[in-house]
Amino acid sequence: MCGIVGYIGEKQAYPILIKGLQRLEYRGYDSAGVALLNGDLNIYKKSGKVAELENFVKEKDISGTMGVAHTRWATHGEPNDINAHPHFSQSKDIAIIHNGIIENYSVLKDELLNRGYKFTSNTDSEVLIHLIDDIQKNEKVNLAQAVRITLNQVIGAYAIVVISKNEPDKLVAAKKGSPLVIGIGNGDFYIASDATPIVEYTKNVVYLNDYEIAVIKKNGNLDIRTTKNEKHTPYIQKLELNLSQLQKEGFEHFMLKEIYEQPRSIKDSLRGRLNVNKGLVFLGGIADYEQKLINAEKIVIIACGTSWHAGLVGEYLLEDIARVPVEVEYASEFRYRNSVVSENDVFIAISQSGETADTIAAIELAQSKGATVLGICNVVGSTIARITDAGSYTHAGPEIGVASTKAFTAQVTILTLMALMIAKKRGSISTSKFHQLITELEGIPDKVEKTLKASNIVEAIAEKFKYAKNFLYLGRGYNFPVALEGALKLKEISYIHAEGYPAAEMKHGPIALIDENMPVVFIAPKTGLYEKVKSNIEEVKSRKGVIIAIVTEGDTDIKKIADYTVEIPQTEAMFVPLLSTIPLQILSYHIAVMRNCNVDQPRNLAKSVTVE
Ligand code: G6P
Repeated sequence: MCGIVGYIGEKQAYPILIKGLQRLEYRGYDSAGVALLNGDLNIYKKSGKVAELENFVKEKDISGTMGVAHTRWATHGEPNDINAHPHFSQSKDIAIIHNGIIENYSVLKDELLNRGYKFTSNTDSEVLIHLIDDIQKNEKVNLAQAVRITLNQVIGAYAIVVISKNEPDKLVAAKKGSPLVIGIGNGDFYIASDATPIVEYTKNVVYLNDYEIAVIKKNGNLDIRTTKNEKHTPYIQKLELNLSQLQKEGFEHFMLKEIYEQPRSIKDSLRGRLNVNKGLVFLGGIADYEQKLINAEKIVIIACGTSWHAGLVGEYLLEDIARVPVEVEYASEFRYRNSVVSENDVFIAISQSGETADTIAAIELAQSKGATVLGICNVVGSTIARITDAGSYTHAGPEIGVASTKAFTAQVTILTLMALMIAKKRGSISTSKFHQLITELEGIPDKVEKTLKASNIVEAIAEKFKYAKNFLYLGRGYNFPVALEGALKLKEISYIHAEGYPAAEMKHGPIALIDENMPVVFIAPKTGLYEKVKSNIEEVKSRKGVIIAIVTEGDTDIKKIADYTVEIPQTEAMFVPLLSTIPLQILSYHIAVMRNCNVDQPRNLAKSVTVE
């Protein structure tokens, strides 16, 4: 959460910083601010979106060839102008932007208050700047040294950039727990929470590691040292990201673009990993750990949010065909409970962003207990991609809409490949079944394309239910996680209360909610538990619930009882989530648009949850 950007060089910093903030707005949009150095150190900040900041600075002096900027997702202190970053030191000579949480801020704050420092904001971040200032004054050290001494006193997570009027040739950046990337331009530098603000200027980047402090100089010099003052050589990597991936390309919202990208993104997840002619499934990124996976006593999937739902599909897949026991854990729970971990367990951490704080902590815990941890990440070079023992990228491309869509189907695709790979190696399915499944899997992107064609039907359904107060989503087997994901999508972007449930569990509670005002979305394909789900539909129908059913094309039985149906192509039970999720994404999208909600940036949410 929170996006940070910095620039130092010969160009005007403000346009670069604002564009960077717009790219990072998915990380938080409670307030935004910028500090520019041009002899004077000027700070402008405003609550609300980056656009508010842009309006606010009209007519102001925004000149300067170095500066820092921030878009906030509030943790400590409400979202207002004062709590917005950057934060000034008392003398207004130094300013800081911070992403993360300083856990011992109240102890540090009390000390600083005792020494006469006045705090203007209610943020935890402000302690950092007063501490840096205090250390500079008392110990007569330069900015970088003061940052180092400060960080050695800090408990918590941070990515920071500090700018000082007294040392106008440099920016000082540091990280622990929150991400920070430095773009190496042509004699200039770009700093950001992820590579999206950097890609249009340079493809050469350095991902800062935890406990590293970078002194980034106007003369083109980059010095990286640890908080213990040990020098590190910067490791320069090439970005694979393209600018066009960061634009809406004619779609009204990023979410819609990303929904429509799914035939392509699933194909990209499969590319080079599936060879039907040779009867092969190969995941190069985890090839060295194949044997570990095959011999695993247990696979534990850790994730949050939508990625956790993908993990749940993974459990059904892996147990169904690979016959390995699987547990799916919320990373936030796993990290604090006294779970039993064996060295023979293999963990799979799933994360779109690769930066989710709870998932990172859960990985570190599993690793400390000797388990192998594999990653399924979308963002290349992200923290989780780097700290896991090995992993497979989803290759879905940048996902900018806060509500996850294409990342989910890409994660499920990778889990499907893993399950097939293990099943083949363990001999838990026959060669002919394996062949039949991979042939079907290869055709899934086309079936996703076909599913998208039902979008008009779904839009018409959205029109009918746009004012509903509650929704129930029900599914069984592979489609239980889809029901959870459908409900989450609706909650996230339309603010309608929705619950996902295993269809049969309905009788143990939710059935009491059903009346003529309760839309119930059934995911009811003609696979395994079809007849049972049909009975559940009848149960809802007889209590006057309104039924919207996702059915297999050609289904006539459910059409007779449901009020509305949406068809998806016929496929194997294990591939249905890749199709049945799509109409649910489209339904929530249209309802949100019809309710005038901000689809790409829903209230209170952030795409990357880098605080626990
Ligand atoms: C946030 C996002 C969700 C996402 C979850 C986990 O809540 O809004 O879309 O599913 O974090 O994020 P990750 O990046 O780890 O998949």
